[in-house]
Amino acid sequence: MQELLLHCRPGFESEAAAEMQELANACGLAGYPVTREGAAIVRFVCPAEGDAGRLMRKLDFQSLIFTRQWALGDWLDVDPEDRITPVIQACAKGPLASLLWLETADTNDGKALAALLKKLRKPLESALGKTRFLRPNKTELPRLHLVFESGERLFVGWSWANNAAPWPMGIPRLRVPREAPSRSTLKLEEAWHHFIPREQWDSRLAPGMTAVDLGAAPGGWTWQLVNRHMKVIAVDNGPMNRKLMESGQVEHVQADGYLFRPKRPVHWMVCDIVDKPARSSALLATWLSRGWCREAIINFKLPMKRRYQEVMQCMAHVQDALDEAGLEATLACKQLYTDREEVTCHARIVRGHR
Ligand SMILES: C[S@@+](CC[C@H](N)C(=O)[O-])C[C@H]1O[C@@H](n2cnc3c(N)ncnc32)[C@H](O)[C@@H]1O
Repeated sequence: MQELLLHCRPGFESEAAAEMQELANACGLAGYPVTREGAAIVRFVCPAEGDAGRLMRKLDFQSLIFTRQWALGDWLDVDPEDRITPVIQACAKGPLASLLWLETADTNDGKALAALLKKLRKPLESALGKTRFLRPNKTELPRLHLVFESGERLFVGWSWANNAAPWPMGIPRLRVPREAPSRSTLKLEEAWHHFIPREQWDSRLAPGMTAVDLGAAPGGWTWQLVNRHMKVIAVDNGPMNRKLMESGQVEHVQADGYLFRPKRPVHWMVCDIVDKPARSSALLATWLSRGWCREAIINFKLPMKRRYQEVMQCMAHVQDALDEAGLEATLACKQLYTDREEVTCHARIVRGHR
């Protein structure tokens, strides 16, 4: 298996490619990306046998910023007359799997293949079941990804649940709650799914915790915090959703988010103000280094050309501020499915001056 297939947001292929190239270099493994603008997929080819697998095992999927999902495998050409036989033969060359995921790139061309994928699902499952290749009860086994580029070409790959996204193509199936004041509510929910292991939600998103939401109106993010029974200070000059205010858990402060200071330290600071990433990262650095919050989620908007470099600079700036303040923290960025021209940054103080 010579390649890693990386799913990313359409238009962010060069960022996903640059990131993987840098990481492969740092691991001392030779490889190169192959992609085209708008493809929503990057191939990362490692010519030496075993290197692609080595690279996947060395990297922590959680730390990848622009890759939504990945798989290790190779490409396969198939004849539309019989696609099943060559797929079964290709699968037999790799490990047994617990799950079958049929995927495409996240593009219009990919969506156009939906009917074909629907038609292939049952016969593939049945053939893979007969050969005892699919073992649904063995969750420790990898997932099999069949990523269709067209009706005649697909990538046959594998990913391991403990080092990959939990959703096909890295796309979570989240629904906007009926009562939420805005669609942006999903951004915070997806960020929690990505950055906080599910078994820690009850301790890290606990009832009675306090939060500040900077740039809160109309209240999609505040709604998520209130839904976890937190007390929220919503900072925005714009109006907050009336029903959300009736919950009694929200104090609306009409002020500039950059000038607001909490009277007491809070558990969470979240911020969805649209601004230059350098300003957003400086704001995050201030909140963490002054001990105003323990955990934070903030968006870095990326309208500029050098987007990968910009994110790295922002992270370095926050890390410098943490080091200077003598704080130990986890710091990570991810381009979530709900993120457009932006990434979501998460920080959590693990050892500090409080
Ligand atoms: C993208 S919206 C936030 C949406 C919100 N997260 C939600 O889920 O409903 C950005 C908000 O930031 C606010 N904003 C912009 N600059 C601000 C500032 N300097 N201080 C506070 N709020 C600001 C705007 O008024 C706007 O309501």
